[in-house]
Amino acid sequence: MIENIKQHISDVENFFSDKIEEIEEFRIKYMSKKGGIVTNLFNEFRNIPIESKKEFGQFLNDLKKIVEEKVDNLKTKAEDKGSEKIDFDLSLPGDSNALGTRHPISIVRNQIIEIFSRIGFTVSEGPEIEDDWHNFSALNFPAEHPARDMQDTFFIQKPDILLRTHTSNGQIRVMETQKPPVRIIVPGRVFRNEAVSARAHCIFHQIEGLYIDKNVSFADLKQTLMYFAKEFFGEETKIRLRPSYFPFTEPSAEMDVSCSICGGKGCNVCKYTGWLEVLGCGMVDPNVLESCNIDSKEYTGFAFGMGIERITMLKFGINDLRLYFENDLRFLRQFS
Ligand code: PHE
Repeated sequence: MIENIKQHISDVENFFSDKIEEIEEFRIKYMSKKGGIVTNLFNEFRNIPIESKKEFGQFLNDLKKIVEEKVDNLKTKAEDKGSEKIDFDLSLPGDSNALGTRHPISIVRNQIIEIFSRIGFTVSEGPEIEDDWHNFSALNFPAEHPARDMQDTFFIQKPDILLRTHTSNGQIRVMETQKPPVRIIVPGRVFRNEAVSARAHCIFHQIEGLYIDKNVSFADLKQTLMYFAKEFFGEETKIRLRPSYFPFTEPSAEMDVSCSICGGKGCNVCKYTGWLEVLGCGMVDPNVLESCNIDSKEYTGFAFGMGIERITMLKFGINDLRLYFENDLRFLRQFS
């Protein structure tokens, strides 16, 4: 009999399973009130001769204990496998997820889009890889214009395929497919073959604006830009337009805003002039409208284009263009 119990003890010790059903089967086999091995052995206890009762009883109790422990142990392990065991303090504050921050260029781009969307401009996007027609010819660049020169333009396939040098290609792309009235802004990346320095980069961002309709005048252009300048730089901002030249606008102008740092008194950011140059603009040249099959006698319009890096520098007091592209987290984390 004792040998029999010893055999059971060793069977129990060697048993292993991580499946709940198997463990339960094992428990029933030993512990079931009806016909379980342990139960049966207890029933036999009264037939054991007096002198063996003590030893038998000890082994039997051991067997019972070992079975119970085994079942408990295996069950806990099997349950832990199914569901992560919670062994930490649920009342502690959680680990916060480190959120990234928006790039300053994105912040300013979104802000500009928002300002213009309030007066009915919608966003349009032209391709970054462009052909000569959309980047230059349709925009009234004469064939020998120096901007077509290899020094400014990255050509992908000479003579025709290039990386756009400005977002003005967006003007042509839209006017080719959409009849006036047209009221769009075109945010995007542009490329110029320039040496990288604190003040110049070969990749940068622009936002183009275009408004074509009947009776659009220079006064509309000026009013639109004034609205933008006040919304973006603050209510106190003044603007001034200086005559300039672009092949695709006539007349053309460059817009300055009163220096947002010193309020126009003069500081090192505005080089003591009180003014900051922020964008180029003008009335769309009739030749450009005609390139897109828009009747220049019926329709007029204005266009403007600004560098996002530049006005972001003014807004946040950033002094080196290269910071935008270096992905230095110490720089990027300052914006939200
Ligand atoms: N495309 C011009 C530039 O890159 C800016 C501009 C856009 C000027 C639209 C006038 C009208 O400098």
